[in-house]
Amino acid sequence: MGKAFPKGFYWGGATAANQLEGAWNVDGRGASVDDHFLGGSVSTPREITIDIDPDRFYPNHDGIDFYHRYEEDIKLFAEMGFNMFRLSISWSRIFPNGDDEAPNEAGLAFYDRVFDCLREHDIEPLVTLSHYEMPYALVEKYNGWESRELIELFERYCATVFERYKDKVTYWLTFNEINCGTSEMGALFETSMIRGFEGPASKVVVTPQQCFQALHHQFVASGRVVRLAHEKYPQFKIGNMECFILSYAATCDPADILANQAEMRRMNWYCGDVQVRGHYPSYAKRFWRENGIELDIHEGDLDDIREGTVDFYTFSYYMSTIVGTHDDVEMAQGNMTFGGKNPYLESTDWGWQIDPDGLRFALNEIYDRYQIPLMVVENGMGAKDEVTSDGKIHDDYRIAYLKKHVAAMAEAIDDGVDLIGYTWWGPIDLVSAGTGEMRKRYGFIYVDKHDDGTGDYSRLKKDSFYAYQKIIASNGVEG
Ligand code: BG6
Repeated sequence: MGKAFPKGFYWGGATAANQLEGAWNVDGRGASVDDHFLGGSVSTPREITIDIDPDRFYPNHDGIDFYHRYEEDIKLFAEMGFNMFRLSISWSRIFPNGDDEAPNEAGLAFYDRVFDCLREHDIEPLVTLSHYEMPYALVEKYNGWESRELIELFERYCATVFERYKDKVTYWLTFNEINCGTSEMGALFETSMIRGFEGPASKVVVTPQQCFQALHHQFVASGRVVRLAHEKYPQFKIGNMECFILSYAATCDPADILANQAEMRRMNWYCGDVQVRGHYPSYAKRFWRENGIELDIHEGDLDDIREGTVDFYTFSYYMSTIVGTHDDVEMAQGNMTFGGKNPYLESTDWGWQIDPDGLRFALNEIYDRYQIPLMVVENGMGAKDEVTSDGKIHDDYRIAYLKKHVAAMAEAIDDGVDLIGYTWWGPIDLVSAGTGEMRKRYGFIYVDKHDDGTGDYSRLKKDSFYAYQKIIASNGVEG
């Protein structure tokens, strides 16, 4: 028996438009960055093509066809007991080229249908405005967030969807995993600075100057959008979203402690400090100087950042890593990043180190620092699932991961953390962001779709479906 969660706690799942909707060129939608990515694997990076080659397989084009099957999927979420569903709006469904004069009505109407369907099932939408995609036309024209022009284009897109959905959506997030713009894979997904680039994602080269300037543009955009929401729609609640990569010092050598502090600041605190506190942190100046970064900050930018602080803090948590200065730290795979291998932890098939205690620790650290409500808006385990001869999927490994993380959250709440929601990543199997694979499955619901493009998209409840249903029904007690 576990500890009960607070009354009204949000339980649900999280997704991103480009990874599940499909219908990439339907009803006036423009191509997004992800539509130019081929599939890869844990050892082979995804490739990017400038033109879309009709003879090659682009996994995001069809996703899991949520665009046509959302009613069936939302019904299944309701059956599990969800009272929250995190989804993103695809910018290129609303503004196909990013700078079109008028929004695409068919795209807007699609999200109307989805939000209405969620309401019918008493599920609160949590909407990410930008989840790892932008219209590809903005990459070609502006090299993504490298350009300041993106700020106004993003504001216009947000103003459009705020006005349209003001009676249907209350909870919003600005940028998914905004801090990933500073990590190895992140410049590709987060800031899309890949104009003219073709080839394996691992070969994309961006300088710290480009990354942190792009991030500055996103901070200004986020600040302006949050301020707009607060002024015009006081009922809205707007959060940030971080990819929280907890790292521990590899040893008690003070040099390792300092190295880890620097990594925690770069990866986890830099963006949170800006979006929650409304200004760049005290350590930023030295960091910029030592990394050759000279930010172009325009008049008014720092006001936009100060006046647009978020109402709640959200983050993804999958794994932890270690940081050290000694040669014996072995490298491990991770979410949008690499880090050291921790001998005390087990890993998933994709090499992500499983650390539920780290979630409790992270929740305490974040809450101590910011003292605003928190939500874990992604957590989960990518695994290979097998449909057995009884026609079922016995995913005990996923159930074990889920239960341990739910127990860790319960401890953190007992520690005094104001945690208000939990949305499991990929409650239904979807296309992996990092590798483009379908076989890296996160779902409680299996989707018959495979990496060679075969499958009939039928949905099947896994054992974990019932495990999560039980957890939700008992508000965390029966974990
Ligand atoms: C997060 C992203 O980093 O991790 C998601 O916000 C992503 O978009 C998730 O899907 C899991 O990563 P992956 O690479 O296994 O899909």
